Amino acid sequence: MTVHSLSNSSAFQKLKQHFHQLSAQGVEIRNLFEQDSKRFDHFSIDAAGLLLDYSKNRLTSDTLNLLCDLAREQDVESQRAAMFAGEKINFTENRSVLHTALRAPKNTPQLVDGTNINAEVHAVLDHMQEFVRQVHSHQWTGATGLAITDVVNIGIGGSDLGPKMVCLALRSFAHSGITSHFVSNADGHALDEVLGKINPATTLFIISSKTFTTADTMLNAHSARRWFLRHFNEADLAKHFVAVSTNQPAVQAFGIAPENRFEFWDWVGGRYSLWSAIGLPIALALGFDHFRALLDGAHAMDVHFQNAPLGKNMPVLLALIGIWNRDVLGCNSLSIAAYHQDLRAFPNYLQQLDMESNGKHITRAGVAVDVPTGPVIWGDVGTNGQHAYFQCLHQGSDIVPVDFVAALRPQHHLAEHQLVLLANCFAQSQALMLGKSAQQVAAEMQAQGYSAEQIRLLTPHRTFDGNRPSNTILLDELNPASLGALIALYEHKVTVQGFCWGINSFDQWGVELGKVLAKAIEADLHSDANLTEHDSSTAGLIAQARAALRT
Ligand code: F6P
Repeated sequence: MTVHSLSNSSAFQKLKQHFHQLSAQGVEIRNLFEQDSKRFDHFSIDAAGLLLDYSKNRLTSDTLNLLCDLAREQDVESQRAAMFAGEKINFTENRSVLHTALRAPKNTPQLVDGTNINAEVHAVLDHMQEFVRQVHSHQWTGATGLAITDVVNIGIGGSDLGPKMVCLALRSFAHSGITSHFVSNADGHALDEVLGKINPATTLFIISSKTFTTADTMLNAHSARRWFLRHFNEADLAKHFVAVSTNQPAVQAFGIAPENRFEFWDWVGGRYSLWSAIGLPIALALGFDHFRALLDGAHAMDVHFQNAPLGKNMPVLLALIGIWNRDVLGCNSLSIAAYHQDLRAFPNYLQQLDMESNGKHITRAGVAVDVPTGPVIWGDVGTNGQHAYFQCLHQGSDIVPVDFVAALRPQHHLAEHQLVLLANCFAQSQALMLGKSAQQVAAEMQAQGYSAEQIRLLTPHRTFDGNRPSNTILLDELNPASLGALIALYEHKVTVQGFCWGINSFDQWGVELGKVLAKAIEADLHSDANLTEHDSSTAGLIAQARAALRT
């Protein structure tokens, strides 16, 4: 499979020419709406219960055709087929990428190295379902016979962000009687805060780590274990500690029995793993039926992604618009504005999904990609963001595209709030697109009785350029199925972008160096060895910490 240098590809060259033409003609998004009264119909798409409105982007149908040509030229369709066929598209680790197999229904063959993994996947789902049933029915109790009331997930990165985000997003669907906690940070304040809230007799710890070697997770897991053993005996661990990991020997060495380990596989990347047993805290918090509905929602998006033609494929369109914004318009970040309070962890979750996947610049051919790759992902919930950083989105010197995400129906009965929320969401994308001209500002100020001098002084400050791109994704309501589809939409978007850029979206070598250096510095903090091996900044900081920690 050949991946061409993107900027040299004929499709990319044509896209750049096309952009210059649009710019030379002074075409702005607002003009495109004036020219086509049905632009919303022509530039929006429904799939798996979601609606994506991409009409408020700086693009025409010619742009989309050229972007689809680019995707074809970069072999997106054959790479997509290779992914679903279980080929080792994670080419630096020689692994298949089959998180989609985790949400495929029973009896749909999914191949890894010629072996059908569908039955194995469903065996683990059955294991999870049975465990959840036992905990919820109080058949599984703590060592003293008390029901489990608190579940503490100890994991980091993909073994934390997905489950934490989903549990928060779907809190309206939660099973009563279970309180979920998530500890990820190696900072002892995180674990200490949770330990202060729980009773060891009614707590279940899930040690979630694909590798079971991640230092932050192991530090927290061992501290939790020591804390538990201050109240209970080793023999009682079995009722209070379970593990989710691919590493059976390490789990056993920690003291967790094989039957209390939930299996997953190396063909599931950490940041794509919430659908696997890493989702156990979700199933415990929401009940297994809701977990299954989450998987089904994601599967519906998988089916759409796998089969729809490029120009009518929601994840592909989102990916290509992202490439247009990043590589042609030159936007280096993407803001996620979630207009649902329960999606407040969503931008954070997407940060890992996107930035750990596409924060790379080396192609399959081992050379640097010649266009910018994954943007910086950041954001918050509306309306909070509006009163914090939206000023910069509207009038700052950088163009920051925004993905607005909203659910039409709320989970509460405060109908008036929902109207206000949606009005704000729609108004923000409209304001970014329309802007406000100097003439409009001056006319308004005149009508309000401002003096000519005040109008002259204030008009530039009160003018908005507009022409700032955004997408809006609408869910009917935020429920397990729609959230599953939403997450899968972004997973596939990120994947398609990686395919286009020719990078490997499924490894994460970039986090390794810091881990290795931290080990060496940790040793230096323990010892009195001289610090000449380090640069003077690091040596100075270590010396400060040594002095503070030893007094
Ligand atoms: O940060 C690197 C990383 O490997 C992530 O990709 C992963 O999600 C996280 O660490 C946790 O890894 P593990 O599940 O193996 O503890």
